Amino acid sequence: MDYLKIFAPATVANVSCGFDSLGFAVDTIGDEMTFTKTSKKGVKITNITGADLPYDVDKNAASAVIKKILLDAKADFGIALTIHKGFSPGSGLGSSAASAAGAAFGVNQFLADKYSNLELTKFAMFGEEVACGSAIADNVAAAIYGGFVLVRSYEPLEIIKLPVPEALRVVAIHPQIAIKTKDAREVLPKEIALKNAVTQWANVGGLVSGLFTNNYELISNSLVDVIVEPFRKGLIPFFDEVKTNALNAGALGAGISGSGPTIFALCKGEKSAKDVYKAIESTYKETGIGFEIFISKINPQGMKIIE
Ligand code: HSE
Repeated sequence: MDYLKIFAPATVANVSCGFDSLGFAVDTIGDEMTFTKTSKKGVKITNITGADLPYDVDKNAASAVIKKILLDAKADFGIALTIHKGFSPGSGLGSSAASAAGAAFGVNQFLADKYSNLELTKFAMFGEEVACGSAIADNVAAAIYGGFVLVRSYEPLEIIKLPVPEALRVVAIHPQIAIKTKDAREVLPKEIALKNAVTQWANVGGLVSGLFTNNYELISNSLVDVIVEPFRKGLIPFFDEVKTNALNAGALGAGISGSGPTIFALCKGEKSAKDVYKAIESTYKETGIGFEIFISKINPQGMKIIE
């Protein structure tokens, strides 16, 4: 194989109660990346469209991951890479994660699937570190494994793939402001109250159980974040209004996607998702702030090979 084109999905991390430990992949939004095998060793980026990202291979999350994998595998070839960003960096939809995870998945196709999904996630976490200073797994694992994932442990890394109830839909609005993950992590407290911790881990258990049993009411009751959302929501204009109107329109739950500013709502069924879409859209239209909004199924597969 000399050439590959892939779709690397956007992802929603945290999913309200699971800070740094839960995530899911989106079906309709993502990046396209091409990989061309070269006889010259190493990696080079030949084109980036859709966003202003570094061409320096050590500063770009995708190329940094490819370089690391090619070295680890002692590959006798190189890769020329193009990246077309389908959504903005700083959106809270796992932009750097899509690049890093897409890079790991793509280069692995040239290595006869040498690495497992867990190993690819570790490589992709290095890309997250390059892009935003923290080796977080929730977005990259969701992009690589697809569906819902639980990062059960960071050391050693353990990822559990969770089931996706068929009728689940996500509506997400991306207000046209950028929030750096690093900044959104700096507003968080170093310590939390035991009472809040109890609420949070009970909700993670409830959400995981609801996903396994197709219990939409339990999923809804569990989509609560008493730890991170109170500190971050102030960074997102009209967060409370969007959340309230989404819930009133029938959303199972709503919260901050990753580190924001995107706000996501989970819904049961296409009709409910359309109602929630309209409620969120009309809320934001009144603010005068530009935005993008979409409805998507949960992407059960993660990466897709296009060519
Ligand atoms: N779990 C991460 C956060 C996702 O919320 O900071 C962003 O990478």
